[in-house]
Amino acid sequence: MKPLPILLFTLLGVLIAPAIQARTYDKDKPPRTLTAEQAARAEANYNRYCTLCHGENREGHKNDHAPSLRSKSLFESGVPHAILRPLSYGREGTAMGGYLDEVGGPLTLDETWDLTYWLFWQSGAERIKLSEEPVLGDVVRGEQVYQQHCASCHGKNGEGVTAPALGNQSALAHNKDEFIRYAIEKGRQDTPMKAFEDILSAEDIDNVTAFIRSKASGWTQEKMPLRPIPTPDQYVINPDSDNPQWTLSEDKFITSEQLFEAMQANKKMVILDTRVTSVWQRAHIEGSIPFPYYSNLDERVKDLPRDVQIVAYCSCPRAAAVYITDQLRDMGFDNTAVLYEGIFGWMNQGFPVTRSE
Ligand code: HEC
Ligand code: HEC
Repeated sequence: MKPLPILLFTLLGVLIAPAIQARTYDKDKPPRTLTAEQAARAEANYNRYCTLCHGENREGHKNDHAPSLRSKSLFESGVPHAILRPLSYGREGTAMGGYLDEVGGPLTLDETWDLTYWLFWQSGAERIKLSEEPVLGDVVRGEQVYQQHCASCHGKNGEGVTAPALGNQSALAHNKDEFIRYAIEKGRQDTPMKAFEDILSAEDIDNVTAFIRSKASGWTQEKMPLRPIPTPDQYVINPDSDNPQWTLSEDKFITSEQLFEAMQANKKMVILDTRVTSVWQRAHIEGSIPFPYYSNLDERVKDLPRDVQIVAYCSCPRAAAVYITDQLRDMGFDNTAVLYEGIFGWMNQGFPVTRSE
């Protein structure tokens, strides 16, 4: 053959290669249906526990870049490992806590399943079959693709910036390779995550998937005994001392440093951990009590003293704490403040937390 036809042939090969490699997906059975009663309870649970971050219409990105819970590609590929597992056990180190009662959350096993199915039915998606096989690729090339096309949103090390933490160990433990690949190929509808099937070759999608997978180091959900929840007579720390005197920024916030100083000086305070109780179980600021954002305030304010400084914190980094504090202020609690950086900011600055034994 002369050079020209060879060149043309090669060019043609490169151009049609992605089309040849593009995958087709079989449909999978839908999950079971819900009775009207189960669906109503699932919806009520969604409204109580999830809207704060994932939004009233499951659109996501209301707080802390919580992902959309209605995008078609997620529900096509992600029941149950991408819905049930994070909902039950949370994503370690992110604002997403575990909601299953077994780890200290408010939902029973049946309720977590029903909520998963409810979200699936709301999405209107049809399930597809994904293989369990690993996606093989060139990890070194995958990292180049990642740094060029993904790092701006997902972070240089997959730590998550404006998008989910792709290097998160609890996510990597639950999400299979094909699930990750499918998200990259199809994107997430109505979110900043676009479909890369028209931007990257099928081979580079494999490579970047293999790179993300290479970050997994084997996460295990530790079974820890649940801590006893403090009773109201234990709420106030240093009850015989006096309240800290703080200058609040924006009339609401204190820094980690201010809180730590007050703790060192044995000041009188009530510290509210406004996250889902499962994450308080795993690690919290010493002396804090679980006071989740979905608490029934009419019930619980009876146990809060009005003359003691109250500090609220969460991990989102402050949405849940502000939500609770604003309501307390409306109820006449004047000595209230929010930890601006949240518990992750606190930990990043080296301040201590206590863990379950
Ligand atoms: C413009 C910002 C942006 C860029 C660039 C981007 N993403 Fe995303 N990505 C997102 C957002 C935001 C989400 C969450 C979408 C949602 O709400 O469901 C997401 C979701 C994902 C998910 C699904 C995670 C899950 O657990 O459901 C994967 C996998 C992913 N991105 C991989 C990539 C890869 C690989 C690249 C580069 C080839 C990339 N993304 C580029 C913003 C981005
Ligand atoms: C305090 C904020 C917050 C609340 C409340 C919250 N989430 Fe999340 N959720 C997040 C964040 C942030 C992430 C992404 C974490 C990551 O992987 O980086 C997430 C991730 C998820 C995911 C994984 C989605 C994906 O694309 O990978 C599911 C499913 C989920 N949440 C369901 C729920 C449900 C159901 C509720 C209510 C029971 C809930 N969440 C309550 C913040 C929250």
